[in-house]
Amino acid sequence: MLYPVMTESRMLFDLSGIWAFKTEKDEGQGKREQWYAASLSECCTMPVPASYNDIKTSQELRDYRGTVYYQRKVAVSAPMLAQRLVLRCGAVTHHAEVYLNGVLVASHKGGFLPFEADITEAVHAGDNLLTIAVSNIIDHTTLPVGEQKVTPAGRKYNATNFDFFNYAGITRPVKLYTTPCQYIRDITVTSNVDFTAGSADLHYDVETCGEASCHVEVFDESGKLAANADGKSGILHIEHVRLWQPLDAYLYDIRVTFGEDSYTLPYGVRTVRVDGYHFLINERPFYFKGYGKHEDTYPNGRGLNEAMNVKDLALLKWQGANSFRTSHYPYSEEMMRLCDREGIVVIDEVPAVGLNFRMGGGFFGASHQSTFGAENGVQTFEHHQDVIRGLIDRDKNLACAVIWSIANEPDSTGPQAADYFLPLFELAKQLDPQKRPCTLINVQMISFEQEVTKDVCDVICLNRYYGWYECGGDLASAEKQMREEMTKWASLGKPIVFTEFGADTVAGFHDATPVMFTEEYQVDYYEMNTRVFDDIPQVQGEQVWNFADFATSQGVVRVQGNKKGLFTRDRKPKMAAHFMRKRWLNIPDFNYKK
Ligand code: GCU
Repeated sequence: MLYPVMTESRMLFDLSGIWAFKTEKDEGQGKREQWYAASLSECCTMPVPASYNDIKTSQELRDYRGTVYYQRKVAVSAPMLAQRLVLRCGAVTHHAEVYLNGVLVASHKGGFLPFEADITEAVHAGDNLLTIAVSNIIDHTTLPVGEQKVTPAGRKYNATNFDFFNYAGITRPVKLYTTPCQYIRDITVTSNVDFTAGSADLHYDVETCGEASCHVEVFDESGKLAANADGKSGILHIEHVRLWQPLDAYLYDIRVTFGEDSYTLPYGVRTVRVDGYHFLINERPFYFKGYGKHEDTYPNGRGLNEAMNVKDLALLKWQGANSFRTSHYPYSEEMMRLCDREGIVVIDEVPAVGLNFRMGGGFFGASHQSTFGAENGVQTFEHHQDVIRGLIDRDKNLACAVIWSIANEPDSTGPQAADYFLPLFELAKQLDPQKRPCTLINVQMISFEQEVTKDVCDVICLNRYYGWYECGGDLASAEKQMREEMTKWASLGKPIVFTEFGADTVAGFHDATPVMFTEEYQVDYYEMNTRVFDDIPQVQGEQVWNFADFATSQGVVRVQGNKKGLFTRDRKPKMAAHFMRKRWLNIPDFNYKK
């Protein structure tokens, strides 16, 4: 799916701004009263893009469960009507129904991937009424996985089976764009690099609608033509190719013209593969330094915050980091394109979190129902396939995306889990034109012996909390247990990336004799963990949990959210941020481990 941009042949209108907003008094009221068919009454203001939960001052809105309605007028001019007109939503969390002038034009399940609709026949010149109904329901059929519960006071609510706040709303931009009637639907590019000759062959495939001639040009960053070809598929040979490198990005512009339509795709030439226990980028062993993050800022919630995206990448570079994981859902296209531009390496994760009934709300010991049991297990398999298709379709050409993460901390043990996950790995590998490595993030409670995906994971990704959930406050015991466990995972001879390790730390808590939750303990925790990493050749990466403090559901082990950040929620460094900066500035991006 192409990211919407303005070109010689395409107009682009961003519908971001202040929309009308209304919540239902009872389930289904909006549909019963057809709120989508006329201007909303008794409504309030709401910014788009943003989650709605933190925007006003009411607890009801923060903890709302059900469907809300967003609405605005959209003026369409005559020149727009002469073209094909498309409405595109970057993400609507978690379920959307889109109406134009009272007619349903699109519906979408899944809160973190774009969807679009051809609305050419649904609009008229002048003002049109755009209404988007948004539901935040999570249950055993959604990703992320939640549960519908009722409080003792009788209020229905979304119980999260994951450790982040269930922010909802129109969280990424809504845009209108036009194309000619005969247009470019999608572009796929893969590259073969000849490292000896210093050249590259870009294999391209243009999917179109209609019949016309197709011409493809490749321009380097100075605007010089580097290659060109005719036809909807072919090979573009580039001499003296400039490779996309971590922290040294280089993006060519691949300009496609098809009839009257034209589209330009920024593209980084790089290779990725696993070789033994090394993770190679452009044939050099790469060491992941960075984070598990969240799209989480105040009061945007999960809503797009480009200023904070640029700030976050600046802080990563300030620390000598080079990567992050899009925990636990696909991040915005804007952030992914920024990473392509800034040379940040990304582990790209689908929103498959909470697939573990043994962990209620991201903690241990919730229930012993079988997560993947035919009776009461999750009903997410088809939707899981959809989100894998959607993520790869969206991010397939990105240089920064180097690994697909099929799930975070699932109950990945037993035959039912194998029947669930192994086909998903096959699907990802079959769909990805670049055949990137795939992984699944192993949770501490699923042992080496139990993990059913360890043979299909190209990279072993471990979330471990030795010194926090395991042997908290006793780093000596934690270290001993961690070293014992790691001998088993190292025996696989695959790259190991610690995708989570962390300690809740309240900024400003200090003690000369460190105890849990103090900044000093967080430093001691990282000293111990990284000491172990350095002793294991197969460890090819360390991604701290988490980059910043973030919002969660309320609970006795969450102090106004999750405090494992190395930075506070407003991005102020704790002591451990300086500790990891000192460490990472002295670790090379390549060849750290022989
Ligand atoms: C898990 C989970 C995270 C969670 C973290 C924690 O590993 O993947 O989403 O926030 O533990 O408990 O802090």
